[in-house]
Amino acid sequence: APEEIRELLLSRIREVADYPRPGVRFKDITPLLADSKAFSLVTETMAAICRRRRATKVAGLEARGFILAAPVAVRAQVGFIPVRKAGKLPGATLSQSYELEYGSAEIELHAEDLTPEDRVLVIDDVLATGGTAEASLHLIRRTGAQVAGVTMLMELGFLAGRERLREALGPAPLDVLLTL
Ligand code: PRP
Repeated sequence: APEEIRELLLSRIREVADYPRPGVRFKDITPLLADSKAFSLVTETMAAICRRRRATKVAGLEARGFILAAPVAVRAQVGFIPVRKAGKLPGATLSQSYELEYGSAEIELHAEDLTPEDRVLVIDDVLATGGTAEASLHLIRRTGAQVAGVTMLMELGFLAGRERLREALGPAPLDVLLTL
């Protein structure tokens, strides 16, 4: 039942006060990862979404997105694309910078691993302001590939990331397992 799933996931996410900065309540997913039942439930739910969205590739956002997206790709039998922080990928990359609360950040991917026939599902642990996910959608579209959707373990509703993502998503769906 959805309510039981919600309770299980909630019970495995640890809130850490004032991390990484005062006033922030950090959502730590390491207890969830340490529980094979909860971890498996998350990756199987995401793999079902991946199949439903007819994705041909899963893109994981460094670093916590990698932990979720890689097992989803294997379960759904599609390829995995790492979207990395700038300077980590050795090949020809496309880069996208985006605004943070303070300053800016930059992410990259290897464009040659995607084709215009690909439908890419973006996976990450948390949708906060939406900046990272939005930048990843721009990167995917710049390769010529299509966006199959965005799937997040958690959405922090009060940060309105969903609104920031709306334009970049277009008709592609945003699926969230847990809204906080
Ligand atoms: C966190 C999180 C998302 C992003 C969400 O990653 O895992 O990728 O921030 O924030 P946004 O919606 O405001 O863009 P972080 O940069 O902390 O990287 P990490 O996973 O490597 O710790």
